[in-house]
Amino acid sequence: GIHDQSLVRGAGGELHQTAETHDAPVMTTAQGGPVADDQNTLRIGARGPLAMDDFHFREKLFHFDHERIPERVVHARGYGAHGYFETYDSLAAYTKADLFQRKGEKTPAFVRFSTVAGNKGSADLARDVRGFAVKIYTKEGNWDLVGNNMPVFFIQDAIKFPDLVHAAKQEPDRDFPQAQTAHDNFWDFISLTPESMHMIMWAMSDRAIPRSFRFMEGFGVHTFRFVNAKDESTFVKFHWKPKLGLQSVAWNEAVKINGADPDFHRRDLWQSIQSGNFPEWELQVQLFDQAFADSFDFDVLDPTKLIPEEILPPQPVGRLVLDRMPDNFFAETEQVAFMTQNVPPGIDFSNDPLLQGRNFSYLDTQLKRLGGPNFTHIPINAPKCPFAHFQQDGHMAMRNPVGRVNYQPNSWGEGPRESPVKGFRHFPAEGQGPKIRLRPESFADHYSQARQFYISQTPAEQRHIANALTFELSKVETPVIRERVVSHLLNIDETLASTVAAKLGLKTMPKPADAAVETRQDLEPSPALSIALN
Ligand code: HEM
Repeated sequence: GIHDQSLVRGAGGELHQTAETHDAPVMTTAQGGPVADDQNTLRIGARGPLAMDDFHFREKLFHFDHERIPERVVHARGYGAHGYFETYDSLAAYTKADLFQRKGEKTPAFVRFSTVAGNKGSADLARDVRGFAVKIYTKEGNWDLVGNNMPVFFIQDAIKFPDLVHAAKQEPDRDFPQAQTAHDNFWDFISLTPESMHMIMWAMSDRAIPRSFRFMEGFGVHTFRFVNAKDESTFVKFHWKPKLGLQSVAWNEAVKINGADPDFHRRDLWQSIQSGNFPEWELQVQLFDQAFADSFDFDVLDPTKLIPEEILPPQPVGRLVLDRMPDNFFAETEQVAFMTQNVPPGIDFSNDPLLQGRNFSYLDTQLKRLGGPNFTHIPINAPKCPFAHFQQDGHMAMRNPVGRVNYQPNSWGEGPRESPVKGFRHFPAEGQGPKIRLRPESFADHYSQARQFYISQTPAEQRHIANALTFELSKVETPVIRERVVSHLLNIDETLASTVAAKLGLKTMPKPADAAVETRQDLEPSPALSIALN
């Protein structure tokens, strides 16, 4: 309740409450020293300079001055919630992962939804991909499924990620546009990166302006592996299907909502969970083997491709329920550290070159963002199963080895030991070949699935895509960039290309982009070719 009685007038004339007039704990410094006056600095005479021995003032301001940590380099704006994952049935035939062994078992989880390009204070309804990052605290360590609300990605190789993100965020000279992909740098990069076309179709669709987080799908994107107790591997794609179904807003609604309530999505999640309407997603998996993978023209290691759900219907294997908001946004949602490399025994990686690159990048970025190697000591990141290792020291060490032993093997019979039986063993995938930088031929078709996505849309949805492309490209000032994008659209759908060209007022229709240039080996190195090969 609100306390307004027994207010005491302090030395500066302010009204406040004291521990003596209220049944309240005594305020202390961070060192535990009791505080007599939190309103007036220590001065030499009432009108004099501050005294350096005011340790309370210095500590209070020092701590405040250091409140900000670097925001995430991407996905800076996000909102998280606690919940649980419930397994429908044993998946022991496919995976030995402990969380999938027992029907009905519930495992605690934390989810963070996010936009990608906007800074921490940007608006929720920007046209953007949404992050859908899930941390499941299994009995064999944390499993992070760090996904998005779209099943494919812009690029095929992690080495391009810094360029993609630089191009998508504010331009470095003017520092705008904020949270908005409608600008020259973004479309310049996209127009020079044909592999992005499938993702662009998704990003220009209504999927990029979801009604709320509760009405979004989530995708693990990459092909992963399940590995069972007999060490047999099955490829797996992960999908989250929202119980409420899929809904988006219209673009004119998105624009208005961003102005009137930039917190629209976080407010929605907060209110639904606080009122007991717990959002829920079903985890569905597409399971397949090497022979099935080989039956496609595209490569299942290529993250710009999906496996059509009508060819391989996803199977429901469990559900995710979000039922509790964090007590503190910073401690939990801001400090949570997702990392693709967090997988329990029974889940493993494929050779998707984007996934392999991510497995390096997330650990590296958390070290910087969370200020050192001990970010797993933060409760939101700590495993909820027993854990034991000999890592020690570093900034902010909370849990060092106890006793004499901090190494192994040791003669003292103390501390943890590795377990060939229970421990994670990487699936011994075959792999050999020359050490080269070369995209495989099987990654070369950039347009077929873009076309499939476009023609799968209803006429109204197709209009939205054309309108989105028109809006975005109308903010691009350089004519050749607009034309280059239209030249790619010609390889996707001619009507779409001519609609966008007409709306943009292009005087002449460009030629279709050379669909094969990226993998043709017989060409002299040209600027276009060196983009593909370097
Ligand atoms: C953050 C998804 C590709 C680097 C995130 C987050 C998500 C995500 C959901 C936010 C995590 C959170 O809520 O805290 C994806 C997906 C990708 C992808 C689905 C492709 C399929 C990449 C690539 C790289 C990368 C290729 C780098 C090579 C990062 C970094 C962060 C991040 C550095 C910031 C992490 C942090 O500070 O907590 N990504 N990402 N991502 N991603 Fe990705």
